[in-house]
Amino acid sequence: MHIDLGNGYCLRRFLYGDAIALANHGNNPKISQYLRDTFPNPYTIEHARAWVQHVKEHETKTRFAIDYNGEAIGEIGFVVQLDVHRFGAEIGFWVSEDHWGKGIMTKALSYVTNYAFDEMGLVRIYADVQARNPGSRKVLEKCGFELEGVMKKHVYKDDQFIDQLVFALVR
Ligand SMILES: CC(C)(COP(=O)(O)OP(=O)(O)OC[C@H]1O[C@@H](n2cnc3c(N)ncnc32)[C@H](O)[C@@H]1OP(=O)(O)O)[C@@H](O)C(=O)NCCC(=O)NCCS
Repeated sequence: MHIDLGNGYCLRRFLYGDAIALANHGNNPKISQYLRDTFPNPYTIEHARAWVQHVKEHETKTRFAIDYNGEAIGEIGFVVQLDVHRFGAEIGFWVSEDHWGKGIMTKALSYVTNYAFDEMGLVRIYADVQARNPGSRKVLEKCGFELEGVMKKHVYKDDQFIDQLVFALVR
């Protein structure tokens, strides 16, 4: 698959060879500060290799590498929930700081949410966003996500408690 995002960017499946580039671009505290501790800093090639392996084995239909001229510079994907929540999914994403502010994630998120609704039959996509993350909030709002609530002190990261915002898009 190849989803053209314009200007040399696309979404595609993960490749085993992506680990080096993902570690290179993901090894940045400005990225990991907004993600779970499963995406640590430093983010090493070993972390990236294990992640790519996991995606290739278990999440090929729901995770996409963000590619710029053949190099993986970030990712976006969703996790379909279980049991009574099985028509919903949590979405997550990051892109290299070298490529911030070019509209890449807005385009990627727009495509992936439509894919989740149209191809996967989901009705609800949500994102857990730290209150201190204005960039993520802006991207979600540009794609039609609405703020549903605030979970106070739900995140403990970098030695501090942080409120978590829940954004969702429902079809
Ligand atoms: C958040 C993130 C994904 C945004 O990606 P991006 O490709 O730079 O986003 P876009 O270029 O599509 O930006 C969309 C809008 O958000 C704004 N924006 C982006 N980052 C911003 C920031 N840090 N502060 C304020 N606004 C920001 C852009 O200016 C743009 O608004 P505009 O169209 O009015 O100019 C990227 O900064 C990132 O990977 N951050 C670290 C990881 C992360 O936070 N992941 C999400 C966890 S929930």
